Amino acid sequence: MSRARTPLRLAAAAPGPAFTVTFDGRAIPALPGQTVAAALWSAGVLSWRTTRVGGEPRGVFCGIGVCFDCLVSVNGRPNQRACLLPVEPGDAIRTQEGTGHGDLAH
Ligand code: FES
Repeated sequence: MSRARTPLRLAAAAPGPAFTVTFDGRAIPALPGQTVAAALWSAGVLSWRTTRVGGEPRGVFCGIGVCFDCLVSVNGRPNQRACLLPVEPGDAIRTQEGTGHGDLAH
């Protein structure tokens, strides 16, 4: 199987033990086969981005990769769609502010 982090990997996911990722530095559990968005939801996190204009909170809207409302910074890479990105052990997920370009400095 390809190691590319695409939603196609989720189709072959098998149950397995929980692992840990972080959200803004806080450890949260995740399971094999979850997207980043699913892991955040499971931890009670409903928003992880603020809009460029107005700083309004955003999270999942469409859930299928179309609206880009769920953009998040993962392992220092901004603008990742949380609803499509398979979560991996040790992922450092961060709230994305505005365009996320400021996240490149982290
Ligand atoms: S929720 Fe719409 S692209 Fe992720």
